[in-house]
Amino acid sequence: MHFFLCFDCLSLCFLLHFRSCVAFSGKNRIIGVAAKNQMVTNVKNTVFGFKRLLGRKYNDPYVQKELKHLPVKAAPLPNGGIGIRVNYLGEEHSFSPEQITAMLFTKLKETSEIALKTKVNDCVISVPSFFTNAERKGLLDAAAIAGLNVLRLMNETTATALAYGIYKQDLPAPEEKPRNVIFVDCGHSSLQVSACAFHKGKLKMLASAADPELGGRDIDFILTEDFCNSFQSRYRIDPHTNPRAYLRLTAEVEKLKKQMSANSTNLPMNIECFMDDKDVTGDMKR
Ligand SMILES: Nc1ncnc2c1ncn2[C@@H]1O[C@H](COP(=O)(O)OP(=O)(O)O)[C@@H](O)[C@H]1O
Ligand SMILES: *[C@@H]1O[C@H](CO)[C@@H](O)[C@H](O)[C@H]1NC(C)=O
Ligand SMILES: *[C@@H]1O[C@H](CO)[C@@H](O)[C@H](O)[C@H]1NC(C)=O
Ligand SMILES: [Mg+2]
Repeated sequence: MHFFLCFDCLSLCFLLHFRSCVAFSGKNRIIGVAAKNQMVTNVKNTVFGFKRLLGRKYNDPYVQKELKHLPVKAAPLPNGGIGIRVNYLGEEHSFSPEQITAMLFTKLKETSEIALKTKVNDCVISVPSFFTNAERKGLLDAAAIAGLNVLRLMNETTATALAYGIYKQDLPAPEEKPRNVIFVDCGHSSLQVSACAFHKGKLKMLASAADPELGGRDIDFILTEDFCNSFQSRYRIDPHTNPRAYLRLTAEVEKLKKQMSANSTNLPMNIECFMDDKDVTGDMKR
């Protein structure tokens, strides 16, 4: 049995790693890592986590819960969909999660075209295996807005297994015992696990399971709360009252978490001018 742990990308689409983040700043649309990097200074106009809003209605309790984690404003659209409110080109605009996703796809398309030096229209997009038909439809709508022709939507569990199978040179021959591999894919907000049997040129999905509500961000939430409590008692500040400070803390905590997964010593965290002109420090050990 082989175990293969991956923390990888959103889609097989163009085999590119992209952060699902879109920001608006004056006349500019900022996409991907660049958008994530400016998040703290442009809290109200930076949209992330929209993959979880695809194909859903505003009054869906799941949507209401998700919106609590997002610093952007949102309101219902006339058709009951979700309108994400941002400042763009000097006025307030309302975009659906499908439109925001289309902006990300357009950028992915352009990036791929530059890298591949050819037009890209056809693509395969992977989706979480637990995506409902409505969510899949939302993703297809987004691809259509971006002018992409989706040949196929593929489950992420299948895409992960395929990616493993493509590069493995030593898989058993068809008459031999299969190699069984378990894939554990812990993403930002969900966890997918699958068991596959491999032969050379052939893969069989034996079983798969998912928890759509458990991911790396849940670790971030818990660690962030721990620092909030500590800051309340040590500095008399409550980061919950300041969205920008809270987001900044979450970003630092995520960095600390990543460091902790490679380093078992006590690790420091320092943030200057965090709130009320106070510098804060903390530390953590796994
Ligand atoms: N070295 C690491 N140690 C711990 N967690 C990590 C590490 N690298 C990335 N992560 C976490 O993995 C999650 C992102 O996973 P990713 O596969 O990129 O997202 P998704 O598939 O959901 O789009 C984030 O919560 C991030 O903090
Ligand atoms: C995708 O995953 C779901 C849930 O595991 C499963 O019901 C469905 O058949 C899969 N679709 C494909 C095309 O593999
Ligand atoms: C672990 O972190 C400490 C403190 O930041 C650092 O001094 C040390 O070099 C790190 N060790 C490794 C193996 O990265
Ligand atoms: Mg992933």
